[in-house]
Amino acid sequence: MQTLPAESVDAVITSPPYAMQRRSTYGGVPESEYPAWTVAWMAEVRRLLKPDGSAIINIRPHIKNGQISDYVLRTRLALREVGWNEVDELIWFKRSSPPTGSPRKPRRSWESLHWFAKHGQPWSDAKALGIKTVPPTNKKGWFLSENAKNNGWEHSFAGSNKQPTIARCMDVAEINLGRPTESDRSNGVAHPAPYPPALAAWVGKLVCPPGGTVLDPFSGSASTGVAAIRNGWDYIGIDAVEEYVEMSRRRLSAVEAA
Ligand SMILES: C[S@@+](CC[C@H](N)C(=O)[O-])C[C@H]1O[C@@H](n2cnc3c(N)ncnc32)[C@H](O)[C@@H]1O
Repeated sequence: MQTLPAESVDAVITSPPYAMQRRSTYGGVPESEYPAWTVAWMAEVRRLLKPDGSAIINIRPHIKNGQISDYVLRTRLALREVGWNEVDELIWFKRSSPPTGSPRKPRRSWESLHWFAKHGQPWSDAKALGIKTVPPTNKKGWFLSENAKNNGWEHSFAGSNKQPTIARCMDVAEINLGRPTESDRSNGVAHPAPYPPALAAWVGKLVCPPGGTVLDPFSGSASTGVAAIRNGWDYIGIDAVEEYVEMSRRRLSAVEAA
């Protein structure tokens, strides 16, 4: 990141290594050091982000000794202490999550996306993800969506003559883990902890302006890059493991060629 120019990035979308849960494959950071380690790499993100840019961090703490591990909480507070504004928390709902963890507890099926920015009003477009609706009444105001997909409350600003409006997206997205595509299989794309490109696309549409630049400093198999190519954003991916960088090059070339 130190080689990149200041204020050149619109959005950071990333899933950093989770404390020590993946240490056998790509290393990890001890929980006690996690807040300071995150503050350090986010300082470089701060330099690279445009004034209205956003950083989205996907992480959910594991359960340790019957209790939620506190390192993510401490990390969020540490980021606030050094001046980051925590804009919101978005939820990735994974109906297809595997049945791991304690059999005495519900299956863990969601993860957080922590939205940080330099101030409280970063660039965003909640309607880029919205659904076109036709208000059912002539009145301005809130109404319950008739669109099963949106499944919630919407607001009609138009109010009159039932013009279609675009409702804002919800702060929860249901995106399944999915299986590797044929192209990924033939390019040997395999990573121990990928998120789906659709997740990066969902949140990217919210925080990255059209034609903007997205950075993933822990890019793994470049799922963020796949979303970037499909949505017309420039993409910079960084990973500490050379094998993942090579894998990413193959994957992104195939997506560009498709
Ligand atoms: C959770 S994975 C990201 C997976 C990615 N979102 C995907 O869909 O493939 C975290 C990545 O961070 C990388 N990583 C760990 N420490 C790093 C460091 N200090 N600098 C850059 N990358 C690092 C790992 O190699 C791993 O690929």
